[in-house]
Amino acid sequence: MNFQLTEEQLAVQAAAREFAKTELLPGVIERDEHQKFPAEQIKKLGELGFLGMMVDPKYGGSGMDTISYVLAMEEISKIDASASVCMSVNNSLVCWGLETYGSEEQKQKYLTELASGKAIGAFLLSEPEAGSDATSQRTTAEDKGDHYLVNGTKNWITNGNSASYYLVIAQTDIEKGHRGINALIIPKDTPGVTVGAKENKMGIRGSDTHSIMFQDVKVPKENRIGEDGFGFKFAMKTLAGGRIGIASQALGIASGAYELALKYSKERKAFGKEIMNHQAIAFKLADMATAIEGARLMCLKAAWQKDMHEDFEQAAAMAKLYASEIAQWVTNEAVQIHGGYGYVKEFHVERLMRDAKITQIYEGTSEVQKIVISRNVLRA
Ligand code: CAA
Ligand code: FAD
Repeated sequence: MNFQLTEEQLAVQAAAREFAKTELLPGVIERDEHQKFPAEQIKKLGELGFLGMMVDPKYGGSGMDTISYVLAMEEISKIDASASVCMSVNNSLVCWGLETYGSEEQKQKYLTELASGKAIGAFLLSEPEAGSDATSQRTTAEDKGDHYLVNGTKNWITNGNSASYYLVIAQTDIEKGHRGINALIIPKDTPGVTVGAKENKMGIRGSDTHSIMFQDVKVPKENRIGEDGFGFKFAMKTLAGGRIGIASQALGIASGAYELALKYSKERKAFGKEIMNHQAIAFKLADMATAIEGARLMCLKAAWQKDMHEDFEQAAAMAKLYASEIAQWVTNEAVQIHGGYGYVKEFHVERLMRDAKITQIYEGTSEVQKIVISRNVLRA
């Protein structure tokens, strides 16, 4: 087993770190406060090839491996998790789903724009009454011969207002249950599509989360991804890769908070010495560093399995579960190490603590990851 990163992977990591420091850090507190989507920064991320990292260059992507993607996600998430969730959805849900299961025509028409960052995409699975229970889709895609007629509401949609294209999961044949679900590409400007108000969130406040309504939206049959009835499997397979993205986001949030706590503990003095020299603080830092190392190895292992074309669902679910749980805990400890200063916005750790929470909820809650992991464990 080789743990050494290649020169190319190290260069991607360094570029992402530099981008986060110079482009994302200035203004991150204000964007959080005012719920401002980092539109300019996302445009630049696209120009640098970070929005279609793993896509074949012939479709406008950067042709990198998943390990590079994990490294970049960690660096961007250390500074701005609102930007990194946009990056994760576009890379691993939208672009990966289209490249893996889309037709050649769909790739030419949509993927090239999405992978090169000229447009961004969104993934629309969740509904007011179908979150974890994702097979209970109420949004319908009625088969009208040469087209589908789509009606219903999706909620919590990341990139909901900024995206140009939506990948929408909807029920065509209720009798067939999850085997009657389809995945459709719906441009946002299609008549009958309405974007709801932006959600006022605890964390990732710059991220663009909206409900999306569909009323008699006409979608040509050629916009269906895969065979009739493939939509639910499409969603599950795509989410497996997405979970590597969110695991890396959680890892980045945790390591960002840890780095700030370590720096602070070397500067802050109490009882005549730097607080790092109080063993209670040193042990906290030791526990945080150990948990982060574990999460990083799990993210990289899942990415490596994906790059090796091995089954990575279990590794991705484990990485997402572990990284999101430790992110919640590590960021809380980082606030504690900062004392009162950790409780105010200028020191960044309170934002990272709020941002960490969502990683235990979206792309499958921690409980859902345990359903996936336990089913695989019991089957083995
Ligand atoms: N690959 C392929 N097929 C899969 C699969 C996978 N990984 N997982 C399940 N399936 C198939 C099953 O084989 C089954 O098909 P067959 O009957 O033909 O064999 C079908 O899907 C239904 O599977 P289950 O019976 O296991 O379904 P379930 O109702 O028990 O649900 C679940 C399983 C894992 C809980 C699933 O519903 C789930 O993942 N829920 C969470 C949804 C989720 O993650 N949403 C995230 C939305 S996107 C998002 O949040 C974006 C963001 O963060 C920014
Ligand atoms: P529920 O499914 O109602 O769960 C409530 C609680 O019950 C949770 O603790 C859950 O773990 C638990 N629970 C449910 N079922 C079980 C069970 N069988 N066993 C044990 N416990 C269970 N969705 C998209 O499709 N696209 C997006 O881009 C997107 N972005 C999001 C961005 C944000 C900021 C948020 C908040 C959500 C986003 N989501 C998105 C939706 C997200 O994936 C769902 O919120 C998530 O899957 C949970 O669904 P729910 O909110 O309906 O909770």
